[in-house]
Amino acid sequence: MDSIKIFSPSSVANVLCGFDVLGLCLETVGDEMIIKKSEVPGLRITKIEGEDLPFSIEKNVAGVAAKSYLNSFPAEVGIEIEIYKKISAGSGIGSSAASAVGAVYGINELLERKLEKIDLIPFALDGEQIASGEAHADNIAPAMLGGFTLVRDLNTLDIIKLPTPSELIVTIIHPKIELKTSDARAILKKQVPLKSVIKQTANIAGLVSGLYSEDYGLISRSLNDEIIEKERSLLIPEYISLKSSALEAGALGCGISGSGPSVFALSRGKIKAKEIASGFKSIISKLGIDYDIYISKINSNGVKKII
Ligand code: HSE
Repeated sequence: MDSIKIFSPSSVANVLCGFDVLGLCLETVGDEMIIKKSEVPGLRITKIEGEDLPFSIEKNVAGVAAKSYLNSFPAEVGIEIEIYKKISAGSGIGSSAASAVGAVYGINELLERKLEKIDLIPFALDGEQIASGEAHADNIAPAMLGGFTLVRDLNTLDIIKLPTPSELIVTIIHPKIELKTSDARAILKKQVPLKSVIKQTANIAGLVSGLYSEDYGLISRSLNDEIIEKERSLLIPEYISLKSSALEAGALGCGISGSGPSVFALSRGKIKAKEIASGFKSIISKLGIDYDIYISKINSNGVKKII
């Protein structure tokens, strides 16, 4: 095998109550990458389409992740990466994680190494870190493994893949304003009141339990955030209206996707998801802001080889 094409999916981090620990993987939007062997030694990014990103290995998330992998598992051939970005940078649906995951997974497959996906996560994290300034795996883990994931401990990479109730659908609107993760993290308070921690802990336990028991009512009651939503919502145009409209249309929950500006809603079934999408569209259209909208099942596989 001299070349491989892969699909690296977008993802929703936090999922309201799980700041930095919960994430879910999306099906309808993701980047594509072609990774090739070359007779010329070394690692190169040879093509980038869809976004204006640096070709320099040290400045590109995919480059940093790939280099980290190759430092541990050197290749006897040169490696060339072509990146076809479909996920907008700064959209809040895991653009940098998809780049990092895709590069590491793609090289590992191309070289026919036997590393498991979970063992590739530390290298992808090295790439993600240059985008957000801090290591967190709540986009990396779902993009790599698929489904819902829980990062119980980042240092020991104790990451759990959670079950996905079959009828869950995600609606996402990306108002096209760029919000850097590092900026959205900088505005967060460093101290959290004990009362909020108690509520957040109860909700995350409720959500995880609801996923295992396919209890949509429990999932819905647990989809709340006590810790970051208040500060970050100020960065998102019409956030309160978007959330109210989704909940009125029957969403199980609605919140900021990762660090925003995308807003996501979870619903039971596609009909509700479409109603939520039309409410989202009409609110953002009135502001004259361009947007992308997606309705997606939860992708249970994560990054995959397509050719
Ligand atoms: N958990 C991260 C955050 C996700 O909310 O800052 C964005 O990368």
